[in-house]
Amino acid sequence: PGSSDLVIVANRLPVDRIENPDGSPGWRTSPGGLVSALEPVLRANDGTWIGWPGGTESDLEPFEADGMDLVPMAMSAREIEEFYEGFSNATLWPLYHDVVEKPLFHREWFDTYVEVNQRFAERAAEVAAEGATVWVHDYQLQLVPSMLRELRPDLRIGFYLHIPFPPAELFQQLPWRRQLLEGLLGADLVGFQLSGAAQNFVRLVRQRVGHKTHRDLVYLPDGRTVRAAAFPISIDFNLYADLAQTEGVAARAEEIREAVGNPSKVFLGVDRLDYTKGIYARLRAFGELIADGHLDVEDAVFVQVATPSREQVEQYRILRDDIERLVGRINGDLGKIGRPAIHYLHASYPREEMAALFRAADIMVVTPLRDGMNLVAKEYVACCHDDLGALVLSEFAGAAEELRQAWLINPYDINGMKSALLDAYRTDEREASRRMKAMRKTVRQHDVAAWADSFLAELAAVRPSHGKSVRP
Ligand code: G6P
Repeated sequence: PGSSDLVIVANRLPVDRIENPDGSPGWRTSPGGLVSALEPVLRANDGTWIGWPGGTESDLEPFEADGMDLVPMAMSAREIEEFYEGFSNATLWPLYHDVVEKPLFHREWFDTYVEVNQRFAERAAEVAAEGATVWVHDYQLQLVPSMLRELRPDLRIGFYLHIPFPPAELFQQLPWRRQLLEGLLGADLVGFQLSGAAQNFVRLVRQRVGHKTHRDLVYLPDGRTVRAAAFPISIDFNLYADLAQTEGVAARAEEIREAVGNPSKVFLGVDRLDYTKGIYARLRAFGELIADGHLDVEDAVFVQVATPSREQVEQYRILRDDIERLVGRINGDLGKIGRPAIHYLHASYPREEMAALFRAADIMVVTPLRDGMNLVAKEYVACCHDDLGALVLSEFAGAAEELRQAWLINPYDINGMKSALLDAYRTDEREASRRMKAMRKTVRQHDVAAWADSFLAELAAVRPSHGKSVRP
């Protein structure tokens, strides 16, 4: 055994290895909701994080970055192609997101998924102290819990899925459905964003694996119990709320508004460039509002930040082309000199710049076709320190279960989306502030520390006696 009492295992490390402009190696915060949620948890609990730093470098030593203990995992070019781009992001990702794109099933990809999961499990087994808690994250590592239990039955093992868990009707398509379910059952506690997902999982375990279940519990033949429950993830509310109120961010927000021509309202979208995010339909709706004459490019502007993501995967390349063609068409048809309708940014920015963008925005537009939670919606809410600002939010984001006061929309219904955008645009300050106050209260109370604490407390409760006593 190693020496760490809390080990986080996730495919990606919270920092990515990059090359600085001068050619020297550097680090940058990795994209995505998983990292932005877990980074403060790791700091608060003094744990170790095992994950991939991006790239194909192979001689990587554990290191400390920004006070975090990080254990990098190497990945070969073949593994990146078959495990990461292939099985994780061209099979599981679309399948778990309502088959928004068609999932691809390749047997070789699954073999590589097994290999990489095994290596993560072995590394976790080396790093974890006797009786430690190991918390495994997300769809890339669903086999790790059972592999790790094989190696280290003394550990307390938790698993958390950051993305949706599909209904049985879709999950059943997977040729490897049973292996994945059994992999997850290696954990003592399996956490999901929403209770519907936890129920899907328990039902599948009953039907496909044949274990006895009662409500949120699964009874295994060896006497062990596994619990499956919902733990809606969140953000570090105070971090964003405080950041948004700094002078630097306030000044930058002013600059941004001026740079886009001081319109009366700024609409904002911030997403990884992913086909689950509903970027296309949202921009189309905005463009139509201008074409119809409901909005004017002098009064309303859309800023869309699209963070580069999974660029080697074909569906992502096609999406990028589609969106960029649409932006070009809308700006070409409807913009004026110095007044494009859409400011499109294919880039990722540091947290300060994001806070400034959130502050600069009057209407935040979050329209995924399916999303586990969507933390951008919560980050926006946290940054609205003056309670002004409107959130237009898809019913198909997990966040919609908590942020009931948003302008909720069905992203498949373009007309419905158009009228919600217009409604948010025309709303008065009193109404906006009534809604925003309520949402800020929700996010403040259910921040990421509360999320992590409740998961870890439940994990301790499912497996009360651990450590040396359970070792055969
Ligand atoms: C989502 C997933 C994470 C993933 C992130 C970024 O938030 O739930 O597991 O890390 O997207 O995607 P990437 O493929 O770049 O790691």
